[in-house]
Amino acid sequence: MRRSMGVLLLALASCRTTPAKVEPVRPVAAVPGGMGDVPLGNRFAYIPGQCYAKTRAVGGLVHNPCFACHTWSEPPNFADDAEQQLTWGTLPKGAAANPWRNLLAPPVAHAPRRSDEEILAFVRASNYFGSDGEIELARVLAHLPPAWDGEGDGKWGGYIPDARYHFDDRGFDHRSDGEYTGWRALAYAPFPGAFWPTNGSFGDVLVRLAPAMREDRAGHFDPKIYEVNFAIVEALLTRADVAIDPVDERSLGADLDLDGTLGTAKKIAFEQGPAGTTRMRYVGRAGDESAAGRFPIGAGLFPIDTEFLHSVRYLDLATDGTPKMAARMKELRYAKKARWLSWDDLKAKAAAELVEAQESADGARNFVWQFDRGVYNGQGWLLQGFIEAADGSLRPQSHEETAYCAGCHGGIGATSDSVFSFVRKVGWGTRDIKGLAEPRRRDGRPEYQTWLRETGAGDDYRANDELAKRFFDAGAPRAASLGAIASDVSRLLLPSATRALDLDRAWKAIADEQSYTRGRDPVLAAGAEIYAQVPPEEKTGVVAPVEGPRGRTVRHRTDASATPR
Ligand code: HEC
Ligand code: HEC
Repeated sequence: MRRSMGVLLLALASCRTTPAKVEPVRPVAAVPGGMGDVPLGNRFAYIPGQCYAKTRAVGGLVHNPCFACHTWSEPPNFADDAEQQLTWGTLPKGAAANPWRNLLAPPVAHAPRRSDEEILAFVRASNYFGSDGEIELARVLAHLPPAWDGEGDGKWGGYIPDARYHFDDRGFDHRSDGEYTGWRALAYAPFPGAFWPTNGSFGDVLVRLAPAMREDRAGHFDPKIYEVNFAIVEALLTRADVAIDPVDERSLGADLDLDGTLGTAKKIAFEQGPAGTTRMRYVGRAGDESAAGRFPIGAGLFPIDTEFLHSVRYLDLATDGTPKMAARMKELRYAKKARWLSWDDLKAKAAAELVEAQESADGARNFVWQFDRGVYNGQGWLLQGFIEAADGSLRPQSHEETAYCAGCHGGIGATSDSVFSFVRKVGWGTRDIKGLAEPRRRDGRPEYQTWLRETGAGDDYRANDELAKRFFDAGAPRAASLGAIASDVSRLLLPSATRALDLDRAWKAIADEQSYTRGRDPVLAAGAEIYAQVPPEEKTGVVAPVEGPRGRTVRHRTDASATPR
């Protein structure tokens, strides 16, 4: 990086008379833990802080925030861990002491207080784009700092950030020259709990499909083909028909509505046979690749090389004080389907993993660290992330920081092919939280209200005082206030301006310490409702597992041949 700047300066000096403004070279922050394959301080980093939430309150009330993640799963997710809501008995011995110390003693409690002006100015400055509009990480990764070179091969083999966050009205992202980046913004209802802005962060999700999915049969980029393939993936994952703008099936050479003839299709028909087989077909080059056996398709599965990008951001305030997504990122999280696994493969993996964990000396699951490519979750996906360094820039996450990703994405019943947001889609593009209707579970119940009732609080740790006051009387839900969420979730999801800035301060205090391996949830005060040590009696007090969070109408258990609904 230094050398290229020098060359650039020389070049500028020789061909220009007016001096150009060049950004000073920012020293790269040291990476705690580094990118190397060092032993993990916490072998259970894949078990998140949420598992240590106290479930029994005084007065005998039982709180169950557990059901959001631990639930009966729908194949090809074979985690099927609803019983996990009932007990800590399965927790490996070494994980009985809560390793997430930042939840018990949040760094913000002893950090010097930043003024409102200071924290606002900070979150409003982008650490993704440089002042010249170029992507800062891409620039730094092009000349890999030695501290980030875990493998020692001198180059960055992982994801190089390339999303421009410049979306058209169909959600497609464009470079400044108008070219498509391939990314498409997904508007989705955030997963209940920690991912609501009121509990810490704003997030957005972009998705990109393999090049073959974007191109016509001759290999040329075609946004229409790309859109149809997106609709097909949506049908495969939501397991429902998806309406599309009418298309001529003859020109595409595919029977999209599965009516047996090639005509005009107004929908993508979903179909699922035994073990996820389907007559559905992708269109364009991916369709031809599929026919040649090189690009598999399966119900409930994303195609190979699908990528997701998830930015986790600070809270900013609009002029009227309403919280909105900040320019500054706390984290940039990435996932890529690197390997195709069929339903049968996934079923075999789930069984093997159970045995493996039982046989490992300390009961810990092991995830393969692929350095700059992140961790492999054992189910086809590589997970990788960047996180805020002490100086406010973004740096790659260490092995231990990345191990954190692999439990939620792959180890629990709630995901669909290791992914959360996609089946929670409410549209393409970006969407204002204000006026967003509450998502419905498949059993027809309102999703967020159900979660609030089960949890008896506005967050997993019963630490969100604002929501406690707004929706509960000592843990008992107030029906009238809850009902107001149905037509507009912003009453629930958005904190007050004061709380928003406090949450920003809480994360910044962790970032200053770079103590993410001790927990990165920005809680404001010491957690009274979080176990430092899980109770020896092991029972959570939950008597029957709750279906959630989307709910289902049929229980499939682990029967791979079952057909949903
Ligand atoms: C945000 C999602 C989430 C929530 C909420 C959650 N958990 Fe977990 N839990 C996980 C993940 C991820 C793992 C690691 C799974 C894996 O990869 O083996 C886990 C693991 C566990 C384990 C260890 C299981 C094993 O076999 O190693 C126990 C016990 C557990 N959770 C109990 C609970 C309880 C009790 C609650 C509610 C108080 C809860 N969890 C809430 C995500 C969650
Ligand atoms: C405590 C559970 C949890 C952990 C740990 C976690 N995630 Fe996620 N992740 C989620 C949830 C929930 C969403 C959906 C976001 C929302 O609802 O706002 C998500 C979304 C994503 C997405 C977008 C695709 C999707 O699944 O919706 C990517 C990519 C992602 N996370 C990567 C990562 C990486 C990389 C890490 C580790 C640095 C990580 N995640 C750690 C729960 C988790």
